[in-house]
Amino acid sequence: MKLRSLFVALVASTTAFAWHAASADEPIQPIQAHKPKNPAMVELGKKLYFDPRLSRSGIMSCNTCHNLSMGGTDNIPTSVGDRWQQGPINAPTVLNSSLNLAQFWDGRAKDLKAQAGGPIANPGEMAFTHELAVDVLNSIPAYKAEFKKAFGKDKVNIDMVTDAIAAFEETLVTPDSRFDKWLKGDKKALTAQEKAGYELFKNSGCTACHYGPAMGGQSFQKMGLVKEYDTKNKAQGVAGLTGKDADRMKFKVPTLRNVEMTYPYFHDGAVWTLEEAVDIMGKLQLGRTYSKDEIAQIVAFLKTLTGKQPDFKLPILPPSTNDTPKPKPFG
Ligand code: HEC
Ligand code: HEC
Repeated sequence: MKLRSLFVALVASTTAFAWHAASADEPIQPIQAHKPKNPAMVELGKKLYFDPRLSRSGIMSCNTCHNLSMGGTDNIPTSVGDRWQQGPINAPTVLNSSLNLAQFWDGRAKDLKAQAGGPIANPGEMAFTHELAVDVLNSIPAYKAEFKKAFGKDKVNIDMVTDAIAAFEETLVTPDSRFDKWLKGDKKALTAQEKAGYELFKNSGCTACHYGPAMGGQSFQKMGLVKEYDTKNKAQGVAGLTGKDADRMKFKVPTLRNVEMTYPYFHDGAVWTLEEAVDIMGKLQLGRTYSKDEIAQIVAFLKTLTGKQPDFKLPILPPSTNDTPKPKPFG
């Protein structure tokens, strides 16, 4: 027994030591830049991320709903899918999604690779099949050459497609926000109001759920812990998977990184302002009503979480050939 607690203490102290000195006691750690292991795979994944030929219509890519010019989201309440179908739930950002313990609001995909095949074949999203997506890619010699460079073989399969997209998504981290500069010791990086907002965020208990580098993505929590959340959206969160009443309205805690860019908020996308989102979180999760000034402080703090956005040249996609299956935008 004694030995075991000594071990736990030792592990705890060495992990704490690994954090940057200045942020050692903080519940939030800076976002680390990502060094890709296979740059050829990342470049290929970037092309696939932007390629609308992976959809039935030929006009919808991952970037349609996770627009990297807009914080990795579509900035609408729920997404528009193939043939203008109304999506069931708000699109979360892809930025920093590699830091999530699992993917989707209910965590039903274990990682980015498992997630990436979903939207291509989802009839309400890109509405294609994996077979047709692979046929499109195999019909384009320039793509085959890139698969060869990244994987050592040029007969494309869906596993290679999802591996490449996941490798690209891992690069979509947003380091160097003003808050991270402050965490790393630049005491001038935040204003007095922003610092007061961070203190309030910590002291009132927001960090019980929004912690770690992504300030979320580490647990599933009930939306409406103290008071029920009033929504018309039918999503039941984790209960949709487990069928357990205890999991009703349990959702993966969303990241708060870049939250200024990822409106509208919550799984139903019903809330358009950060002021209202903070007010709701205070009342429903903590049983606390903030004053107008307190809300302004927390919002000012949340706006310091916008990091360096992905920055690269727009990829130019290899043209289709005579053998490439044709898109079906209508009917
Ligand atoms: C039609 C819009 C749409 C398209 C196209 C789309 N997505 Fe999504 N994406 C969503 C929605 C909506 C969700 C949330 C679904 C849920 O949780 O049930 C989601 C969830 C995700 C997540 C999980 C994020 C998290 O925090 O849980 C990732 C990662 C992701 N999508 C990546 C992709 C990739 C890669 C592609 C292209 C292959 C893609 N998406 C195409 C709408 C879209
Ligand atoms: C008990 C856990 C818990 C606590 C405490 C908590 N949150 Fe949340 N937060 C969540 C969950 C879960 C969601 C997603 C709910 C949903 O979409 O239905 C969320 C969503 C949010 C969102 C919207 C993000 C988005 O992209 O949709 C913001 C902003 C937010 N929280 C801020 C705060 C603030 C500020 C506090 C402190 C006042 C706080 N949260 C306290 C669990 C928590």
